[in-house]
Amino acid sequence: MSVVLETQSGVQEALSAADWEPVIAPAREFLGQVSSMLEAQVDEFDSEIAEYARYALENQGKQLRPTLVALAGGAVGPLTDASVSVAVIIEMIHLATLVHDDIMDEARMRRRKATLAAKWGNQVAVLLGDCLFAHALKLAAELPSAEVSRLVASSSGRVCAGEILQSHRRRRWSVDRADYFKVIEMKTGELFALSCDLGARLSGGSPAEVAALRRYGMSLGTAYQIYDDCLDLYGAESEAGKSLGTDLASGKVTLPLIVGLDHSVPEERRRLVGWLEDWRPEFFPQVRDLLDRHRALDRSREVIAGFLNDSDDALSQLKSGPQVDALCALNRFLTRQTDLLAGS
Ligand code: IPE
Ligand code: IPE
Ligand code: MG
Ligand code: MG
Repeated sequence: MSVVLETQSGVQEALSAADWEPVIAPAREFLGQVSSMLEAQVDEFDSEIAEYARYALENQGKQLRPTLVALAGGAVGPLTDASVSVAVIIEMIHLATLVHDDIMDEARMRRRKATLAAKWGNQVAVLLGDCLFAHALKLAAELPSAEVSRLVASSSGRVCAGEILQSHRRRRWSVDRADYFKVIEMKTGELFALSCDLGARLSGGSPAEVAALRRYGMSLGTAYQIYDDCLDLYGAESEAGKSLGTDLASGKVTLPLIVGLDHSVPEERRRLVGWLEDWRPEFFPQVRDLLDRHRALDRSREVIAGFLNDSDDALSQLKSGPQVDALCALNRFLTRQTDLLAGS
């Protein structure tokens, strides 16, 4: 059994790498600059907290948002030093939200390492998250255009507000899809949209190009959060590199669960809510079984496909070129990742 699993995971990684290459190829040099600038920021923190800042800033993730800055910018004009700074700013805000999110979700692992909270406790993690936010806003203020600071600050506020709305909806089993979409657009779609918007603006995009790329980012980001919500239920921690299963444990009402609740007969719904209300990890197989019976993963995939259709449609308004092809490849990459999740 373990041989089969290992082989499957090896195949999956190979497939993912092949799908990822066309996305990343036009952004590679830019992403190298972003990584170096992020690491260089460690020296800007007080020497007593540099150890925490280094831990957070050197352990980098997939850099999806900087990739969007590079591709959206490159799709409409030349990239500049300001584009690199904006990618660093957005990635740092994203990192700050992850540090805080891991406290709220009581997650132990992030980017294949212990979370800041698991390593140094919640107090350090809350305050380091604040330091990262503050530093990102300081970098934004150093850019010549005040408009960038205004947009970065307003998007950061929307992301945090989205997380608050989500926490208000914990264990509210009657949450509907529209309400769920609103929360994930705020907490995740917003930074994807901002990355595309600012990338395009800084490269001299026209208002129509900026609007099309913003729409692409919002739809892709929303699809990405739905994928991530499926990953939490259907993925493997060893591959994801972060704690999974925390959504059920913390009472988050995500799309696969909404699908399961919507399609359950009253007796099933009563049982499902009973498990969720008084959550214990040993309930996981029963919950998965019920969700599988109602094709929760397939139905969630259909919703993801709908958002990705919209983001493809936004791209069709742009002049074709290698960056637009790469943005299109990112949509296909996400579809592929979603297909790889193991439903039954
Ligand atoms: C994780 O984002 C949080 C979500 C919005 C789902 P990423 O999947 O982009 O995380 P990193 O940056 O690669 O670690
Ligand atoms: C995304 O939600 C968090 C933020 C947008 C800050 P999740 O809680 O699902 O993200 P992961 O799964 O912990 O990465
Ligand atoms: Mg989380
Ligand atoms: Mg998640």
